[in-house]
Amino acid sequence: MAQKVQKAIFPVAGLGTRFLPATKSIPKEIMTLVDRPLIQYAIDEARDAGIDEFIFVTARGKTSLEDYFDNAPDLENRLKQDGKDKLLDALIQTNMDSGAIAYIRQKEALGLGHAVWCARRLVANQPVAVILTDDIIQTDGKSGLAQMIEAHNEVGGNIVAAMEVEGPAISSYGVIDPESQNGSIIKAKGLVEKPDAKDAPSNFAVIGRYILEPEIFTVLEGAKKGAGGEIQLTDAIDHLARTKGNVHGYCFKGTRYDCGSKSGYLEATIAHGLLNPELRDELTAYIKKIAAEI
Ligand code: G1P
Repeated sequence: MAQKVQKAIFPVAGLGTRFLPATKSIPKEIMTLVDRPLIQYAIDEARDAGIDEFIFVTARGKTSLEDYFDNAPDLENRLKQDGKDKLLDALIQTNMDSGAIAYIRQKEALGLGHAVWCARRLVANQPVAVILTDDIIQTDGKSGLAQMIEAHNEVGGNIVAAMEVEGPAISSYGVIDPESQNGSIIKAKGLVEKPDAKDAPSNFAVIGRYILEPEIFTVLEGAKKGAGGEIQLTDAIDHLARTKGNVHGYCFKGTRYDCGSKSGYLEATIAHGLLNPELRDELTAYIKKIAAEI
């Protein structure tokens, strides 16, 4: 059995420029799907997978993210007095134990690989999960990360979430160069960050969930800039695939929404609205109405 994964890194330093002007004053991770911010979905997924230490790699302008996870005693008292128990419950679930979250700053926007490297001292010598909050994974059972931890228990080493992407869109992703496949698990002989579609080694795209062994930090230590002039996490994982042969892709069961794009974010909003019993009927009626008018 592989060593237990207890810590997760959330790289949340990005500027969220695709959502300007909204992200001028709020971090993109605070943008909501129905009534929960994206970061809450990521935290809930991590908790479901047994993670109990949360490392946020942040940047200037992200303090409202820290506030979000603080207790809000005035608000709690008010809801208690007003007998709004359901809302109170929802609020209390966002509180985090003291010491469960650590915040570190990425001082320069040098890329995802660099952001993960910034957490090296807090992770030390154990495997760690990485969750990109732009990617929302909705499942009917175990969370995306919980499924990956099961795969990690099976094969050990480094695991990346994988999903098949058809056509030119593959060039927006890290892509797996597969050696072999056994059910949902793909052994990778390499990874390429954002290749031209014609050069993509497969249609298996990397989605923003990773389980990484601490050796990744040694590789990131000397990392050079890659695609887009950034220090890429994909390149470091590619190095491990090539030199150690201990990288697998895991095809999770569930639906992934790309909340880093406006259309993906809107799709996720509609999907999560439809999943909400209080909204489903009204929203379905509205969707039918406008679909008939389009
Ligand atoms: C990042 C990773 C990429 C991965 C993608 C998944 O890219 O670098 O390998 O496929 O997340 O969402 P980004 O979308 O941040 O450019």
